[in-house]
Amino acid sequence: LDGSSLFVVSNREPYVHNWQGNTITVTVPASGLVTAIEPILCACNGTWVAQGSGSADAETVDNHDRLQVPPDDPKYTLRRVWLSAAEEEGYYYGFANEGLWPLCHMAHTRPTFRASDWEFYNAVNERFADALVEEMAGERDPVVLIQDYHFALLPRMIKDRIPHARVAIFWHIPWPNPESFSICPWQRELLDGLLGADLIGFHVQAHCNNFLSTVDRVLEARVDWEHFSVKRNDHWSSVLPFPISVELTEDSSGLPLDHSFEEERSAIIGELGIDATFLGVGVDRVDYTKGIIERFQAVESFLERHPRYQGKFTFIQIGAPTRSNIPRYAEFQREVESEATRINDRFKRGKWRPIVFLNRQHSHKEVRRYYRAAHVCMVTSLHDGMNLVAKEYVAARSDDRGVLILSRFTGAARELRDALIVNPYDIQGTGQAIARALEMDVTEIVDRMRRMRKMVKEHNIYWWAASLIGELCELRLKR
Ligand code: G6P
Repeated sequence: LDGSSLFVVSNREPYVHNWQGNTITVTVPASGLVTAIEPILCACNGTWVAQGSGSADAETVDNHDRLQVPPDDPKYTLRRVWLSAAEEEGYYYGFANEGLWPLCHMAHTRPTFRASDWEFYNAVNERFADALVEEMAGERDPVVLIQDYHFALLPRMIKDRIPHARVAIFWHIPWPNPESFSICPWQRELLDGLLGADLIGFHVQAHCNNFLSTVDRVLEARVDWEHFSVKRNDHWSSVLPFPISVELTEDSSGLPLDHSFEEERSAIIGELGIDATFLGVGVDRVDYTKGIIERFQAVESFLERHPRYQGKFTFIQIGAPTRSNIPRYAEFQREVESEATRINDRFKRGKWRPIVFLNRQHSHKEVRRYYRAAHVCMVTSLHDGMNLVAKEYVAARSDDRGVLILSRFTGAARELRDALIVNPYDIQGTGQAIARALEMDVTEIVDRMRRMRKMVKEHNIYWWAASLIGELCELRLKR
């Protein structure tokens, strides 16, 4: 960063304060972003601007909603933006999650565009711009890293007020083709907001191409396909892929040395009170983009076509409740439950059942236990920017075992070529992949897993953050 100061913006905050009785406790949400960005913010004494989300505030907060974090070794500033219930409803639940989320994911859920949500989305982006401008006052060379679809308008707002700021936005979800995007009544405003940035990052080249085609179609701008950049009103924006990742170290399985993967499996089978020999695992927010129902149906198809696995194979679905204020999410939650019940009722016998649905938030540590225990991990998203579960499973398998079944519609499928790549809409084909995984020769399992681990190790989460910030810092020189 060479003396510049770093400002990060995201909707979710890295530390959450809550009242517990009469005391305030602080929790750190399990987030890849915190792992990647925090070391850099600590090193350069930067500032993270995010929505305040807990029931309490830190005792040390100043009158600008600023506090120093990490709490036990303060190194950088967290600036909270507190939203009213109406702002959160319109900006977060409404425009971001009922509008942009289904607009950008091809999962056949129709987006809802309400003018009032759009107003709140604008107003909340303005509030974040105000907070940032206040934080950046007097900075000679600020570098701003904005995260995600909650803040499409923010790059332009910052550039208009602080033209010398270097601004990047990273879009963590897919970008659809121009026809799909064009149903958004405010497509011009969104594109114009994003093009305030010097650098716009996506996970994969295909999303960059979709974005550039959309700009080409909608705005009066010059798209340079050779350098993947856009010129609009004398300002250039580069549009480049930066595949996000996880941390992989030799002990990232989190397994105590005296514990084997088989012991872990027996322990989990014991805790769940089931009879099973083979385990599969899926880990998701209960979101309609994740293909959870298709996955259950693939398990059903597998058990139908390979009856010798009845009584032996159990699929454990960890499903974290999410965005449950939104009717489509509440409805989807019920659909997932009833599909699991239907399939279990059809096959269960004795203490064995085909599907275990663990419908609560699990810590990173708990999830890693399931990764280690599972012969196969299933990621069957209907559409996904990257999908970090796929990479987390690989990172957890320090024993070089385990087979990953991965939807071709995830960003991760472009990198993890040694997964069994499936089309989640093809239920029978996905079911066949489960059979192939369970019957795969151990040398093939090991070879595939080693290659995937090498990929994740070389392109880890630190590499992602460093390339994004590195590119932003170099842009001015290049141009
Ligand atoms: C997606 C988004 C993230 C978001 C996450 C969880 O991965 O790209 O920005 O943090 O979902 O969603 P939530 O609405 O709970 O923040």
